[in-house]
Amino acid sequence: MRRAPVITIDGPAGAGKSTVARRLARRLGYRYIDSGALYRALAWKLARGAAPGTPLADTQVELVPRGDEVAVLVDGVDVSAAIRTPEIGRLASEIAADPAVREFCSALQRRLAAGGGVVVEGRDAGSVVFPEADVKFYLDAAPEERARRRVRELTARGEAAEIGRVREELLGRDRADRTRTLAPLARIPEACYIDSTGMDVGEVVERMAREVERACSTIS
Ligand code: C5P
Repeated sequence: MRRAPVITIDGPAGAGKSTVARRLARRLGYRYIDSGALYRALAWKLARGAAPGTPLADTQVELVPRGDEVAVLVDGVDVSAAIRTPEIGRLASEIAADPAVREFCSALQRRLAAGGGVVVEGRDAGSVVFPEADVKFYLDAAPEERARRRVRELTARGEAAEIGRVREELLGRDRADRTRTLAPLARIPEACYIDSTGMDVGEVVERMAREVERACSTIS
């Protein structure tokens, strides 16, 4: 029997991928895979003092559904909140250029997606990890809007955030993600491009759901 669909959402930092992917997954009754959380989880372990070069095979990263959220566990420790800082984001981007790290996170994503029925968000989900995905999206937004959204997110968590610094952090991470040799962030031609500048989450999810319906009704 054919597996259930795999849907990928790639795009730059702060484009709204997580919010949209979570909502789209809920709407379709699929599982949501936040691949950035896997890179952040490894960065967290490194920041906590794991020696660089610690065998990745000794690390256990889990995504555990909890109500509407997905908890991130590293070696059994819940790091869901701790990995959401700009520092961990920067370190995640740094280690994401390492082939062993990419292999670890890609293999884990494929295991988590076994059987299909998933929405995966990341940077290379459609281009490298799931080249055979049924529907691929590239979600974008203007840098100012992405920075504003990220500031709102940080402020809601009670963290101080200055828009200029947030914007620089996002753009710096994008530069690193776009220019690395291995699995760089890129807008692939077969991905459905959505510029979410000026759109609200509901509109983006609606547009994606229609595209999934259209694409999946023509899959034989
Ligand atoms: O998506 P998020 O901002 O949480 O990702 C953190 C970092 O992890 C990104 O800046 C990127 O360097 C890396 N990443 C990646 N490939 C993915 C997901 C995230 O390289 N599929």
